[in-house]
Amino acid sequence: MFEILLNEKLNPTVSRMVVQAPLVAAKAEPGQFIILRVDDEGERIPLTVAEYDREAGTVTIIYQLVGGTTIRLAQKAKGEYLADFAGPLGTPSHTAGLKKVAVVGGGVGCAIAYPVAKRLHEQGCTVHSIIGFRCKDLVILEREFDAVSDVVKKMSDDGTWSAKGLVTDALKQLIESGETYDEVIAIGPLIMMKFVCKLTAQFGIKTMVSMNPIMIDGTGMCGCCRLSVGGETKFACVDGPDFDGHLVDFDEAMQRCAMYREFEAHERERACNLFTKEVI
Ligand SMILES: Cc1cc2nc3c(=O)[nH]c(=O)nc-3n(C[C@H](O)[C@H](O)[C@H](O)COP(=O)(O)OP(=O)(O)OC[C@H]3O[C@@H](n4cnc5c(N)ncnc54)[C@H](O)[C@@H]3O)c2cc1C
Ligand code: FES
Repeated sequence: MFEILLNEKLNPTVSRMVVQAPLVAAKAEPGQFIILRVDDEGERIPLTVAEYDREAGTVTIIYQLVGGTTIRLAQKAKGEYLADFAGPLGTPSHTAGLKKVAVVGGGVGCAIAYPVAKRLHEQGCTVHSIIGFRCKDLVILEREFDAVSDVVKKMSDDGTWSAKGLVTDALKQLIESGETYDEVIAIGPLIMMKFVCKLTAQFGIKTMVSMNPIMIDGTGMCGCCRLSVGGETKFACVDGPDFDGHLVDFDEAMQRCAMYREFEAHERERACNLFTKEVI
């Protein structure tokens, strides 16, 4: 059992949880994830390690409330326990040797991008961060990105926060103004990563993306998280989650992500009903 030390809202749909998990904290690296179960009957869901404190033995996860399990997770209070918290899983993000990188985060993808930006900054790399949200109310980790970036471009789709526009608009402006990058790292919705890759392909800039397909075991056994990358089948849980974005078949990944939509809608409804009853 894994004790919850903090569970707080960052915005109406995203929460941050700190969990006592010393074995995970001891080994976690940016880009890796855990698989948790809220209780013994819960489903397994993967969430990225947003931060870790090796001394305190704690791991932070940042999660968006999108369905049954994440809604149940948000109902947990400080002092309660999670049934499982397995990890760290996946291959850490490659950051060694990079001198100047544009880190692009979209929505809750910023929670996955932040530890990578932080690690690059700690290594002395110049970090240009571009973070984008649909609107002001959904902004997360603004201060954190400010602290680890040399330049931060802040974008909102509707113009209610900072500059109006998409993250690709800001990235294009930076590149066209003469900025050059060893690499672009893009993490967010599939559609965002697809369009970042289309843009960077035009300029010949290597681009890594973090793929989040449906996962079950997280250890390369079930094949559920398979993706086509450069015409080969890869398992995101062990070969990734980071891949060369110019080789990823995003259209296939989007189709696979939608496979369980009906079942997920049912579970979301069940969790919402449970939540409403408990609140009453
Ligand atoms: C490696 C990895 C890292 C991730 N890191 C984060 C993170 O840091 N923060 C965050 O908010 N989300 C993250 N996700 C997505 C997160 O796992 C899903 O939002 C979560 O599983 C939703 O579960 P649910 O029951 O609440 O929603 P559901 O209604 O079950 O699903 C909503 C959507 O979540 C995705 N999803 C559902 N089940 C899984 C599963 N077992 N594996 C992967 N995706 C699933 C699907 O796209 C689905 O359409 C990550 C996913 C992966 C694969
Ligand atoms: S989640 Fe089963 S192989 Fe990746």
